[in-house]
Amino acid sequence: MIIKNKPDFGKIQKIDVLNLKSLEKRAQKVIGKGEFGYIEEGSDDEYTKQHNTTAFTEFHMVPRVLQDIEQPDQSTNFMGAKLESPLLAAPIAGNTLAHESGEIGLAKGTKEAGIMMAQSTFASKTIAETAAVSDGSPYMFQLYMPKDWDYCKYLLDEARQGGAQAIILTADSTLGGYREADIINQYHLKGKIANLDGYNTGKKGVGAGGLFAESMQKLNLDLINKLAEYSHLPIIIKGIQHPADADAAIKAGAAAIYVSNHGGRQLDGAPASIEVLPAIASVVNHRVPIIFDSGVQRGTHVLKALALGADLVGVGRPFSYGLALGGWKGVKAVADHLKMEINIAMQLTGCQTIADVKKIQINSNTHIFN
Ligand SMILES: Cc1cc2nc3c(=O)[nH]c(=O)nc-3n(C[C@H](O)[C@H](O)[C@H](O)COP(=O)(O)O)c2cc1C
Repeated sequence: MIIKNKPDFGKIQKIDVLNLKSLEKRAQKVIGKGEFGYIEEGSDDEYTKQHNTTAFTEFHMVPRVLQDIEQPDQSTNFMGAKLESPLLAAPIAGNTLAHESGEIGLAKGTKEAGIMMAQSTFASKTIAETAAVSDGSPYMFQLYMPKDWDYCKYLLDEARQGGAQAIILTADSTLGGYREADIINQYHLKGKIANLDGYNTGKKGVGAGGLFAESMQKLNLDLINKLAEYSHLPIIIKGIQHPADADAAIKAGAAAIYVSNHGGRQLDGAPASIEVLPAIASVVNHRVPIIFDSGVQRGTHVLKALALGADLVGVGRPFSYGLALGGWKGVKAVADHLKMEINIAMQLTGCQTIADVKKIQINSNTHIFN
């Protein structure tokens, strides 16, 4: 599909960021109540959502000194993509809920920041619209496996044409977790599902339930090869929390493992994502790269995830809040702030490069798998 119109970046403004956590309250003032509830919520009692962030405190980095770290360099390479920082804007459905520019703003902000972006199947802008802005900068497409194989082929074709470097198959969300804010606010995911409209099924304006109804519930390992064969793109499995699933996915052809509990929006009572990372990294044993997300709010969180085996670290809600507050400039401000915190943390741990970060000694008493 060719995009004729100039991208509409909507209202943009530079924002100051003290820290990522403080963005939530600020964004609440500019996002509609139902929309904010949908973005912010976790499932059930939100134990896993909260624990995703608090569990980072259980992991301690042991700093090294006298290491000559005047100019830390956080640039890295992920699956062939050159990045200014090992950061990913995790795939988020319906970004126009946060800001009129939606994924177009997200693509511009991440491009300007030199970090990776992933676009959701349930994005508010089409793959082609987003790719036109992304225009060769690091980009991946996240797939909710559709029931309809022809629709799936359409999405894969668009993603390939749009320059996606990989397909992220999300495996932890064949149905949504029980999220009470949506019930209290009587909120149903609104807005258009651009990729569905693009395919022209005539099914417009489906709510969150309808979205999951569009997706295949019976996911299995054979899909990895099927998707790779059709798309000729590396397939990454998102939502891995058990080392055995990571091993099985790699043996079935997965090109990378994405450790995530969906930001605590799915199974409440699941461990924090950072708690399962060490055992998964040990089983993966450098056979494929690892992406990590859920609960990341600090530069030190990014360092801990890298030191425990991640190669790329995803951030979800904070980018939505940055987008809401400042459009693409808000997205860039969030990335820039995180980069600044990463720089400080690198210097204070005695690291010059991301390779050094991966060697940081981490102490913890948290053992989810023995
Ligand atoms: C509002 C919202 C929508 C999301 N939509 C998707 C999606 O469409 N596909 C997907 O794989 N993950 C989705 N996620 C999960 C994110 O990719 C990511 O795993 C999560 O936000 C990371 O946690 P964090 O928000 O604590 O950083 C969504 C998360 C949020 C908050």
